[in-house]
Amino acid sequence: MAFADTTPDDSALIKQGEYIARTGDCMACHTVGNNKPYSGGLGIKSPFGIIYSTNISPDPKFGIGDYTEKEFADAVRKGVRKDGSYLYPAMPYPSYAKMTDQDIHALYVYFMHGVQPVAEQAKQTDLSFPFNQRWGIMFWDKLFTDDGAFKPTASRSDEINRGAYLVQAAGHCGSCHTPRAISMQEKAYDDSSDQYLAGTELNGWNVPSLRAGGDGSKGIDGWSVQDIVDYLQTGRNVHAAVGGEMTAVIQHSTSHMTDADVKAIAEYLKTLPQQYAAGDSKSFSEDARKKTEDQLTQATNLTAGQRVYLDNCAACHFVSGKGAPNVFPPLAGTALANSANPTGLVSIILNGSRLPTTPKAPTQLAMPDFGWRLNDQQVADLATFIRSGWGNSQTAVSAADVKKIRAQLPPPAVTSKPGDLDGVEHYSSQKSQ
Ligand code: HEC
Ligand code: HEC
Ligand code: HEC
Repeated sequence: MAFADTTPDDSALIKQGEYIARTGDCMACHTVGNNKPYSGGLGIKSPFGIIYSTNISPDPKFGIGDYTEKEFADAVRKGVRKDGSYLYPAMPYPSYAKMTDQDIHALYVYFMHGVQPVAEQAKQTDLSFPFNQRWGIMFWDKLFTDDGAFKPTASRSDEINRGAYLVQAAGHCGSCHTPRAISMQEKAYDDSSDQYLAGTELNGWNVPSLRAGGDGSKGIDGWSVQDIVDYLQTGRNVHAAVGGEMTAVIQHSTSHMTDADVKAIAEYLKTLPQQYAAGDSKSFSEDARKKTEDQLTQATNLTAGQRVYLDNCAACHFVSGKGAPNVFPPLAGTALANSANPTGLVSIILNGSRLPTTPKAPTQLAMPDFGWRLNDQQVADLATFIRSGWGNSQTAVSAADVKKIRAQLPPPAVTSKPGDLDGVEHYSSQKSQ
């Protein structure tokens, strides 16, 4: 259907399309900070260089106002532009390929009639040879993407199928949570493979597994459906508080989903069996946690890292390492503290972290930044303690590691003014494994 065929007063359809844009998180990549919605220009780091998102407001000159529905559908699901050139997979079309015609139709009507046109040129991508040769992407698409639409599984309930659809198609959760192969494609785009959502790394930051079924001993498999719902709606639960690039996903997307949709996602994730590796510690040791708690309480024979912890962190995260449910996240047994790569943990210590404001949890809790206060050696001692205290089991961090991470950090999220977190180049594509 072409632009002219849709009736602008089709307000129910526009509303539906707006909701689908939320489930697809189009805002996170196509808007910079407080700029006009969908005016584009967000720089996304990729292995080839920085790729800028485009203006997808309905302006006919600078945006997509002259796209027919077919052209829009081809851009979103196949990564092919109106002029026939190929989009970089920084736009998650390999996942959107699974979106239904119905959803694409509502999305199109919303973008044409529910979004304000913005007559501004977005910053343009300017990669060096050979990555500026867009035709190369055609071969990548042919090899690695399958344009199969989502197929519900007959043996699953409607709720689980709905969750699977949201996760695999619009939600594109796998674009960050599924490991990538050497040529950058996700190792799986659906749950027919046990690599799907099995966890990986994003710019040195641990992206946990979302496979929530299992014996409850590793990461998210110990979370209940309600724990997952709380996290997706508010960015916090009894086990964790969100940091890193997941913050924008919660802020712009999952916190706006209906209760039924978020629950469907959680129920679906609970059907995926967790992967256990030979070296995984099968159970978190409460004895080991208690031992560290006792040591910190007695405050004798402390290591350098333990001293830094007592002076700077214990007021909020407590000597127990258990934090306070839904307010201060625990440090004992968490994915972030037990990730092989210390970048996420060290980044949070240096830069602080701000929880997103969401409809269900409007208070903006923040962890202060310590980068100005602690030197590289102090941060290294502290991170080493956190990674090995309370039953955590990771290797030491050196001052040289901290120095390297510090040099690459954006300005702190916390001392900057609220909202700035949206404007930084937080949304980047993944490193290959
Ligand atoms: C992870 C980041 C990301 C998300 C999420 C995302 N996009 Fe994109 N999108 C991009 C980038 C980057 C480009 C430009 C790619 C290029 O230049 O090759 C793009 C390009 C496009 C284009 C092509 C525009 C043109 O100039 O032809 C359309 C249409 C589009 N996106 C629509 C959407 C819609 C609709 C959604 C939500 C369902 C969405 N995008 C979500 C990153 C994203
Ligand atoms: C832009 C990348 C990105 C996308 C897209 C993304 N995530 Fe995440 N997600 C992350 C990162 C990074 C973390 C780790 C956050 C932290 O360390 O605090 C995370 C953490 C999580 C966690 C917490 C797991 C744990 O063990 O702590 C859940 C649950 C989650 N994501 C669900 C989802 C779902 C559902 C989707 C799709 C709707 C999704 N994510 C899409 C990057 C992403
Ligand atoms: C004023 C209270 C406060 C102090 C002091 C504090 N934190 Fe936090 N911390 C928080 C809050 C609130 C969060 C949740 C914010 C977020 O996730 O965006 C948090 C989050 C974290 C996280 C992320 C947890 C996860 O699994 O995502 C880590 C790690 C952390 N703090 C470590 C520390 C360390 C180490 C110190 C001492 C240098 C410290 N905190 C001092 C309040 C505090």
